[in-house]
Amino acid sequence: MANRIILNPVSFHGKGAINEIPGLAKARGFSHIFVCSDPDLIKFGVTAKVTSLLDEAKIPYTVYSGIKPNPTIENVKDGVAAFRACGADSIIAIGGGSSMDTAKAIGVIITNPEFEDVRSLEGVAPTKNHAVPTIAVPTTAGTAAEVTINYVITDVEKERKFVCVDEHDIPEVAVIDPDMMSSMPKGLTASTGMDALTHAIEGYTTKAAWEMTDMFHLEAIRLIAKHLRGAVQNIPEDREGMALAQYVAGMGFSNVGLGIAHSIAHTLGAHYDTPHGVACAMMLPIVMEYNEDYTGEKYREIARAMGVEGVDGMTQAEYRRAAVDAVKKLSADVGIPSVNEKVREEDLDQLAADAYADACRPGNPRDTNVEELKELYRKIMK
Ligand SMILES: NC(=O)c1ccc[n+]([C@@H]2O[C@H](COP(=O)([O-])OP(=O)(O)OC[C@H]3O[C@@H](n4cnc5c(N)ncnc54)[C@H](O)[C@@H]3O)[C@@H](O)[C@H]2O)c1
Ligand SMILES: [Fe+2]
Repeated sequence: MANRIILNPVSFHGKGAINEIPGLAKARGFSHIFVCSDPDLIKFGVTAKVTSLLDEAKIPYTVYSGIKPNPTIENVKDGVAAFRACGADSIIAIGGGSSMDTAKAIGVIITNPEFEDVRSLEGVAPTKNHAVPTIAVPTTAGTAAEVTINYVITDVEKERKFVCVDEHDIPEVAVIDPDMMSSMPKGLTASTGMDALTHAIEGYTTKAAWEMTDMFHLEAIRLIAKHLRGAVQNIPEDREGMALAQYVAGMGFSNVGLGIAHSIAHTLGAHYDTPHGVACAMMLPIVMEYNEDYTGEKYREIARAMGVEGVDGMTQAEYRRAAVDAVKKLSADVGIPSVNEKVREEDLDQLAADAYADACRPGNPRDTNVEELKELYRKIMK
């Protein structure tokens, strides 16, 4: 089968990029914009960095902010109703993965109303029409949801998160401005940055990886190793580096998939509301160790990209150890915990079954099973 690459038709990168937004909206004939954001971003004035530009340009918009972290089916349904009520013709998503994913689901349902139950969008949904024209503006660095063809929604009733993969959801325009990320507190910068590293490493080692996505993923690993510690200290140059790094990781993994660090992270988000990046960071070194015999020489390149010196003189066992240790060190340096106190032995049957059913699991380089997944959960239990 041929390899396929889907990316945003247009993206803008760098400090001040949001100033492009009014012109982009006007050029596309947006007459009323549905702004998707979350309550904290409104409170902290992050959303207003963009809406004030719309005010100045006199472009009408309605703000929808009924979005929680690990967004729910209800958040999507309420958003669809709000979109219809205000008569919008376009979307600007301003936020982290939660706001952008909710915006994607709303945009897809508006143009494909037969999927308005939301659950039927799970997996690769056979939608016919492209979503509502969308500009995505990330405020974390991050999920890269602005450049991926995926979104993740939580089914509260069934206590599970489900991944939707649909090329009709990719935003027409992505605007990646590090100034939108400068208000992130240290813990959020660290965890969302480790999510990006998990995308890069799982995307580099996933079964469908190929030369072009390897190029994106290795560069993303290199940039994250160089800039995440400084971004946590809010150094502007490192914020800029992380804004780019997470996007470059998204250019890769969106096209080839991930692995079971993400499958497990989705279950921790659904069952315990664990922030996605924290869950990814906890699982990444554990899953790297589990997968190492199925990755050929790839961990040498991961170690090199992480900044480890002398990798060419190392044995296979040495460079594999070095890659995992470098990831653990970065995670510890930025303050990510290595245990999740909420995970209980009695939950493991459900958690492992859900992780096995997750859309990211088949991409893992090592084929797994429910019993082995349970062992991986035990490694983060206190
Ligand atoms: N679509 C994809 O390809 C993809 C990939 C990975 C993860 N995800 C999903 O994305 C979600 C996680 O997204 P996230 O990690 O970006 O976090 P998030 O969107 O859930 O936001 C977490 C919290 O951080 C706050 N926040 C965000 N930006 C901020 C800023 N600049 N300043 C201050 N506070 C800020 C938000 O208000 C929120 O309270 C999960 O549901 C995850 O499953 C999607
Ligand atoms: Fe992720």
